[in-house]
Amino acid sequence: MGTEARAAQQPALLSLRGLYAGYGGGDILRGVDLEVPEGSVTCVVGPNGAGKSTVLRVVSGLLRARAGSATFAGTSLLGRSPRRILDMGIVQVPQDGSLFPNMTVVDNVRMGAYTVRDRGLIERRMGEVQDLFPVVRERAQEKAGALSGGQQKMVEFARSLMLNPRLVLLDEPSMGLDPKTLRTILDQVDLMRRTGKTVLMVEQNARSGLRASTHGVVMESGRVRLTGSAAEVLDNPQIGELYLGGAMTGSKPSEPATMTAPE
Ligand SMILES: Nc1ncnc2c1ncn2[C@@H]1O[C@H](COP(=O)(O)OP(=O)(O)OP(=O)(O)O)[C@@H](O)[C@H]1O
Ligand SMILES: [Mg+2]
Repeated sequence: MGTEARAAQQPALLSLRGLYAGYGGGDILRGVDLEVPEGSVTCVVGPNGAGKSTVLRVVSGLLRARAGSATFAGTSLLGRSPRRILDMGIVQVPQDGSLFPNMTVVDNVRMGAYTVRDRGLIERRMGEVQDLFPVVRERAQEKAGALSGGQQKMVEFARSLMLNPRLVLLDEPSMGLDPKTLRTILDQVDLMRRTGKTVLMVEQNARSGLRASTHGVVMESGRVRLTGSAAEVLDNPQIGELYLGGAMTGSKPSEPATMTAPE
């Protein structure tokens, strides 16, 4: 069975249909259709201002949609508060670093479990995320601000798992990181998938991001231009030329292509 057929058989954990949303005046999202299969890492790529972060904001409840639908495990997300959406099992790691630099690594991670009352459960989850992200154990008592950018991102990943979410939203996890650290971070994203999480990720390093993902979505001007398996998106000649820095096959090794200038 081909990747395409397999993808078609997977049920969508998150499904967006005809989604419109914006800030104040006009619409930024203009009819977004997007499916995130359960167990996938779905990578959204596209130029600056395409609306990638806006999609994540609608899913996490930070921005209200004007029209369309968004369903998660069969339940509508629209009109729900960010807190309610968190309780449903969706957690977001924002684009800008979100750790408290003067707090210890372990306290930062523990804050991810702020809605959990059961102390035993919190400590059990802490052990689990420390197994996944050893830096959380090794540097537990250091201030988060003393860690490197890549290590801080792993601490953010660890914190996002403390509520045992079903869907993790990652907005440009490799932002500001060097190519080697980028690869480590993308490996950690795949690790999250292998532990049973579904991931919806926006990635500026389009080619590297897609290579680390199972599914790809290309956005442009508030709409989805192309979706498919990550390999299909990587191999699409038109998309390659427009967004990935020249058409080439997805299986060829290359330097990570930065699609847009760093902010
Ligand atoms: N808080 C806001 N208020 C008003 N306009 C906003 C706000 N946030 C984003 N926008 C606008 O919405 C559009 C889409 O922004 P968005 O952040 O979703 O793009 P993006 O695809 O994530 O881009 P980037 O790759 O630069 O992160 C842009 O034109 C942006 O200026
Ligand atoms: Mg963005």
